[in-house]
This record gives sequence, structure tokens and C-alpha cells, in this order.
Amino acid sequence: MANVAVVGAQWGDEGKGKIVDWLSERADVVARFQGGHNAGHTLVINGVTYKLSLLPSGILRPGKLSVIGNGVVIDPWALMSEIDKLKGQGVAISRDNLRIASNATLILPLHRELDQLREAAAGAGKIGTTGRGIGPAYEDKVGRRAIRVNDLADLSTIGMKIDRMLAHHNALRRGMGQPELKPAAVLAELSEIAPRILPYADAVWALLDEQKKAGRRILFEGAQGILLDIDHGTYPYVTSSNTVAAQAASGTGIGPASVNYTLGIAKAYTTRVGSGPFPTEQDNEIGELIGQRGREFGTVTGRKRRCGWFDAVLVRQAIKTSGIQGIALTKLDILDGLKEIKVGVGYMLDGKRIDRFPAAEEAQKRVEPIYESFEGWSGTSAGARSWTALPAQAVKYVRYLEELIECPVALLSTSPERDDTILMRDPFQD
Ligand code: GDP
Ligand code: IMO
Ligand code: MG
Repeated sequence: MANVAVVGAQWGDEGKGKIVDWLSERADVVARFQGGHNAGHTLVINGVTYKLSLLPSGILRPGKLSVIGNGVVIDPWALMSEIDKLKGQGVAISRDNLRIASNATLILPLHRELDQLREAAAGAGKIGTTGRGIGPAYEDKVGRRAIRVNDLADLSTIGMKIDRMLAHHNALRRGMGQPELKPAAVLAELSEIAPRILPYADAVWALLDEQKKAGRRILFEGAQGILLDIDHGTYPYVTSSNTVAAQAASGTGIGPASVNYTLGIAKAYTTRVGSGPFPTEQDNEIGELIGQRGREFGTVTGRKRRCGWFDAVLVRQAIKTSGIQGIALTKLDILDGLKEIKVGVGYMLDGKRIDRFPAAEEAQKRVEPIYESFEGWSGTSAGARSWTALPAQAVKYVRYLEELIECPVALLSTSPERDDTILMRDPFQD
């Protein structure tokens, strides 16, 4: 029985939600292991669109267990409003199909406020965060002053924890000219939300251990992408968690040997939202065209995504740092009809060719991509459900990318719709 981790192999928005939803038919449990509601996944099922941020993409399949692991930062208000919204779309959500880790860290309104204040103060130097309080919440977790889900279960001892957290935040707030927060106000907020979130709380590590013993298949759902990883990404223009597949283990409390296969998701081109280096960016008509066809606007913030050509160096690096064994290539259809498709195959840095992305921020900004040109195809790949239905030249493009990134393409996606997906190798059987 194989368990599969799904991770983004670029800067996020690769189509992880669609692929996880599709794969979850073959799984019993879908578990998130990092990030929070900075994630935004759009799923289209029989023409109906669903938007998910914090809930695992398995929530739309009846009979599957969805789990939010300890590595996730949870804004309980955002979670409740997402649950309410999906219930309004007819999705059943209860403790029967949703559990959240008791030891997961909470995002509070003060984290969101701090995130936004810092971004506003940074001006042109801003990261371009989603403004959801992700970074400040992870800082409090690592700083050992966070409030966790289980703390909500005992409101008689939470006061000391609020004081500990506010000692830090009020010092920051004074420095930023913001009014201090009163412990009683934070306690009131938490007391109000506690009874709504606690029914979902569970020891996720123990639950997953039971599921494993019962022979159930677990699908670990990554958010963001490896180039946004706090260690391996384009630091400091990254998110505040590890997005690599190794986090699936520590972010849920399961050993690394239980993650049997890692599937990376990559678009047939590249996008990025927010600031930071992007060597193959096309800030021109071709980027505009890709963005329009691909409807490249953020699910969470509605921001326009920056667009560019596929960068084989970056995806190959993501494959290595995450131990990716197969790629799900998405949005091939967006390239339909282009006369010429370019692919970044290396970089020039200070007059020398390099085949990896440097770690230094300044060098990352300076590299010049080396492109190879690929002849496009006139037929359509949109909606194809079999390998044979694809234009021959599109097949060649996929084979060409496989060689460059040194990894097989296991799945191919040809539209937003759930079933417009071609399976080449089953990650659960590989
Ligand atoms: P995620 O964050 O990785 O889950 O990706 P998003 O949902 O933020 O962005 C991917 C977008 O592309 C969504 O609107 C999907 O519906 C859409 N999408 C996914 N796969 C395909 C595909 O193969 N073709 C097209 N045209 N759209 C796709
Ligand atoms: P999904 O799961 C794309 C980006 C933000 C910003 C940086 C830091 O939908 O692929 P944060 O709010 O996390 O502190 O922002 O990371 N970012 C994403 N970009 N897709 C995402 O998630 C993202 N989540 C965060 O734009 O540049
Ligand atoms: Mg997204």
C-alpha cells in the first residue's frame, strides 16, 4: 500500500488542488501538512467550481477522511467560514470526515494585522504576502509563544499563554505606533471560536497511525511550491514553511518511510504571484497572452500572476530537493496554438553558464536564462483524456521536458475539469 505526497514544483498554483482531488478517488485519507489559508485551490467538478484554502482537496469526495496536520497554521475564523461556504454548496463536513491536529498552531487576528502592517511599511521591498498572517504565526510557533488548538480546550489556563504571546506582540506594536492589545479582548475572541473548532480536534499522528495499520491509503497534500520553501526557495521571497515533501512526515506526525511516492505538480509554463526573482518571466505580450488564456489570477487574493516560460533548471532543482519521483504536468492546453514555445535550460551568470539556481538573492536576480526554442502545435490538447488524443508535437514537448528535468511525467492535465486528466503511471502503484 503506497502513500503519496503531492507538492508544487514551481512557485505555487500549479494545479495541485485539481490533481489531489482527482487522485483522492484512489486514497482514503487526504492530509494537509504545511501552510495555511494562503493556499488557494480551484477545483471544477462537472462544471461546478469549488474554491479551497485550508480544507484538504479530498473534502469534496464523500467517504474520504480529510485531515489538517500539525504543520499547518490554522486561522479558526477562516476555517469556519470556508466550512460554511462549502456546506452552502452542498458539501457535507463534520467530525466524520474532517479532523484537525490538536497540536497545530493558530493564526489570530493580530498575526494578520502584523503581516499587513509590515508589508505596508516595506513599500517596494515587500514580499507580496497574501496578508493572511502566515509568517507571524509561524514566527510565534518557532518562538514558543503560540496558541495551539489544544489550548482552546482549557480556557482556565489560556490566560498565561495569551500574556506570553502579547508580551512579544505589544512590544512590536508599540514600535510600530499601534495600540497595544488587551489580554481580555484576545481571550474573548478565543472563547467565542473555541466551541466551533474543538469538535474537529484530534491526535492526528495517532489517527494516521491507525489508518496506516488498517491498510488505508494516505494522500499528503502540499500547498505553495518548492520555490517558496523557507530553505530551498527564493529566500526571502518565500512563504514561512517548508513546502518540500519531507514536511509531509513532520507536518502530520508520520515517519518518513510512510511517504512512499512523491508527485510534483508543474505547469507547462511558469507563474509567480508576489515579489521576487523569476528568470523566465515574460513581462510582455506573450506573458499577457499566457496569463489571459490560463486565467492566471490568484484564487485567494485575486492578484494577477506573473507569467513566463517553463524553467527546466528550477523544476529539476525542485525535483531533487523534494525527492520527486513523477511529475503531473498541468495546463498543457494553454500552449495550444502557439507557434513557438521557449524553455529555460540553463542560466548565464557573470559571463559563465550555470545549470542550477544560485542561493544568493543578488545572484538569483542577476541570472539570465538560456532558452531553447520548441516548435508549437496547431491541434488542440484541451480536454484530451488519452495520450493518443494529443497532437504529436504536444507529446514531443512532454517528452522533451521529461528529459530536461530528469523525471517522468506520471499525469497530464488538459483542462480545469476533474476528468480531463491523463494517467501514465499510477502514483499509488509505482
Ligand atoms: P493550486 O494552488 O496548485 O491548487 O492551483 P490553483 O487552483 O491556484 O491554480 C490552478 C488553476 O488552473 C485553477 O484555476 C485550475 O482550475 C486550473 N487548472 C488546473 N489544471 C488545469 C489544466 O490542465 N488546464 C487548464 N486550462 N486549467 C487548469
Ligand atoms: P497555493 O497553495 C502561490 C506566495 C505569496 C508571497 C509569498 C509569501 O495556492 O499554490 P505568505 O502569505 O505565504 O507569507 O506569502 O508566497 N504564496 C503563494 N503563491 N500560491 C500559493 O499557494 C501561495 N501561498 C503563498 O504570494 O509571494
Ligand atoms: Mg493556488
